[in-house]
Amino acid sequence: MWDMRYSSEAFAFGTDPHGFVRKGPCHDGIGATDRLQSKRHLNMISEFEMRNTGMPADMQILLDTYPRDTWQAHPGFKENTEHWLGAHKMFRQLGGIIRVETEKFLDKSRSADDFAARLSYYGDMMVRNLHGHHGWEDHTYFPELMAADPRFTAGLEILEKDHQDLDVVLESFSKTANRVIQLAALDPKQALSEAGGLHSIAEVIEAFLKRHLSDEEELAVPIILHHRLRG
Ligand SMILES: [Fe+2]
Ligand SMILES: [Fe+2]
Repeated sequence: MWDMRYSSEAFAFGTDPHGFVRKGPCHDGIGATDRLQSKRHLNMISEFEMRNTGMPADMQILLDTYPRDTWQAHPGFKENTEHWLGAHKMFRQLGGIIRVETEKFLDKSRSADDFAARLSYYGDMMVRNLHGHHGWEDHTYFPELMAADPRFTAGLEILEKDHQDLDVVLESFSKTANRVIQLAALDPKQALSEAGGLHSIAEVIEAFLKRHLSDEEELAVPIILHHRLRG
C-alpha cells in the first residue's frame, strides 16, 4: 500500500522522541491534568506561526535552469531522488488522510472505535517517518548539498528551521491524538468534543507540509541535477 522504499537512509534517525501511543486499553485514565495539558497544546497551535513567505529569489536561481517539469527527463535524476520525492508524496497523503478521517469522525460517519484505530495507524506512521526523514535531512542530506553548492546554505537553513517548527506541531499532534484515542474507548462523547482541536492541528500540519515539501524539492533537486549528486 505505502511505498516504504523511499530511502533506507531516512530511517537512520528513526527514533521518535514524542512516542506516538498506539490504540489500546488505557490504564491511567484521563483526568483533569490531561485535560489541562491538552488545552495547553491547543493554545500552542493557535500561537504557532507557520512560515508564510516563499524562498528568497536568490535561492531560486537554479530552479530557473532546472524547472520542475524537466526533472524526470534529466540524466542526473536518479532512483535516490525519485524515492525522496516519493516520501514527500507519502507525507502529503498522510496529512490529508488524517484531516479527512477526523472530519469523518466529527460528522459521525466514522465510529469512535474505527476512528481511533485509523488515527493510531496513520498518525504513528506520519509522526515516526517525518522525524526519521527530517533527522536524516538535517544530518546527512543538507550538509551534502551545502558542501556541493554553498550559495544555497541560507535556503537550507530556512528548511532546517521548518523542521524545528514542525517538531513543535508534531508534539502537539501526538499528545492530542493520543488523548482522543484513549477517550474514544473511555468516553466517546468527550472524544468527539475534543476532535475539533485535533482537526485544527491536522490542518496546520497539512498546510505546513504543503509549503515545506514544495520549497525543499525546488531547492534541492536543481542542486542535485546541476552537480550530479546522489547517484
Ligand atoms: Fe524537510
Ligand atoms: Fe524532505
